[in-house]
Amino acid sequence: MPMQNVRTTPIDGQKPGTSGLRKKTAVFRRPRFLENYVQSIFDGIGGVEGKTLVIGGDGRFFNDAAIQIILRMACANGAVKCIVGQGGLLSTPAASHLIRLREADGGLILSASHNPGGPDADFGLKYNGPNGGPATEAVTDKIFECTKSLALYKIAAAEDLDLGQLGTHKLQDMVIEIVDPVADYAALMETIVDFAKIRALFEGGFTMCFDAMHAVTGPYAHAVLEDMLGAPKGTVINGQPSPDFGKGHPDPNPIWAKTLMDKMHGANAPDFGAASDGDGDRNMIVGRGAYVTPSDSLALLTAHAHLAPGYKGGLAGVARSMPTSRAADRVAESLGIGCYETPTGWKFFGNLLDAGKVTLCGEESAGTGSDHVREKDGLWAVLLWLNILAETGKPVSELMADLWKAHGRCYYARHDYEDVDGDKASVMMDGLRAKLGGLAGSRIGALTVEAADEFAYLDPVDGSQSTGQGIRVAFEGGGRAVFRLSGTGTQGATIRLYLEQLETDPARLQEAPETMLKQVRAAALILSDLVAITGRDAPDVIT
Ligand code: G1P
Ligand code: ZN
Repeated sequence: MPMQNVRTTPIDGQKPGTSGLRKKTAVFRRPRFLENYVQSIFDGIGGVEGKTLVIGGDGRFFNDAAIQIILRMACANGAVKCIVGQGGLLSTPAASHLIRLREADGGLILSASHNPGGPDADFGLKYNGPNGGPATEAVTDKIFECTKSLALYKIAAAEDLDLGQLGTHKLQDMVIEIVDPVADYAALMETIVDFAKIRALFEGGFTMCFDAMHAVTGPYAHAVLEDMLGAPKGTVINGQPSPDFGKGHPDPNPIWAKTLMDKMHGANAPDFGAASDGDGDRNMIVGRGAYVTPSDSLALLTAHAHLAPGYKGGLAGVARSMPTSRAADRVAESLGIGCYETPTGWKFFGNLLDAGKVTLCGEESAGTGSDHVREKDGLWAVLLWLNILAETGKPVSELMADLWKAHGRCYYARHDYEDVDGDKASVMMDGLRAKLGGLAGSRIGALTVEAADEFAYLDPVDGSQSTGQGIRVAFEGGGRAVFRLSGTGTQGATIRLYLEQLETDPARLQEAPETMLKQVRAAALILSDLVAITGRDAPDVIT
């Protein structure tokens, strides 16, 4: 049966970002674009001969066609087996679990996460290593190097496979096993949280709304929440994955999950609300009339995880990405456990988890996870919350009020300025960088700078260094502003400005975040000259 060696030339712009390669779908569909990148991944990881790969994606437009190409290329490159989610579907955390469970050599996940899907929207592809986590920087660097000198890709000539047929199939000498995308993941969840307790909670009349945002978590949430835990049918909304996510933006935050937010703040709101993103690794948590910031959610889970069977021995430590608020640090300190600050992106948590230094980790961008997989995990976070709600019997708002009373409240917001001219964004960042040395002690607006630097990370496990990971400015009195450029955008530059203000006065724990963040925001804008440089007087999205 013919294997084809196809001559090619390098294609510019195949540098993986925060989470794999993300581009406009139309770019991915250009001749040789996907093939070049897949061959570069294979070459960059030392070939796939004799290897087993897990393959699946979030079901967005081009998911299935891309999987057919990847399978034919894996075959021609000598892989022995590919394990594929039925219909080409696997949530990111389920793929991470499957890699670990089957001791596969790695996996390819097709997703642009929370970015919209469709022919005119976004597509993405990321490689995860044998520990189930995103490729390390060393590996992504190798992949990128390969993209720059690629001369040939290998592909088998074969018919498309029916991805809907569970069971074992053959593509020439390579075995393709099509598996139920949900079963193994659901079984894992049963070992971590107390299903009986949560079932009893629902039996007692507890109500919930889970918005799957027309994305991959739909089947997972229907199976786990409704079928296994007995939540009434209708608890899961928008539960059918669609190639364009119902023309929506599958990003679980108060802006894009507005339907859910309105429901949770309206009359007859359910007790608990949650949402997940395109590929199922993000989560949004909202109580009746009470939105929980992802940073606060990480802190709350850190404080109460021991209530779930999977963490009953306590936590080894907790890690958060640098821009994430310092709420979890305060809880970790009181628990006497380690707390690590890593650069943005899940790949930095992998080493800490593998080395047993941390059990939980999280990011301000609605990502929370634990050592059960090597990715963030949306539905897992929701289940752990449910376990805590069932054990404590308290509503979300009361749990949060208790947390703030005990540790202070880190008021928090992220302001995104999207599709900014790349040069202007660089001018702003360069300007900030140039000022850093002399900032400490200076008065900016109403605040005094305590410390300012550009974040660099020394991995305590493998000693690798990552520099240029965002500019952070701490103010006296517990304020902080962080500036960084997004590594996942597909158009222009996205400036992210992260604002934080600690408040420990018991009388000021229920204020509006906008009010509490005013001074930090004003100081950040003076310092960066953002408005004048970019011509933007307001952010596009505030989360
Ligand atoms: C964004 C988030 C980051 C997350 C990543 C992948 O990256 O900020 O926390 O890990 O998406 O989901 P950014 O666009 O900021 O580089
Ligand atoms: Zn995602």
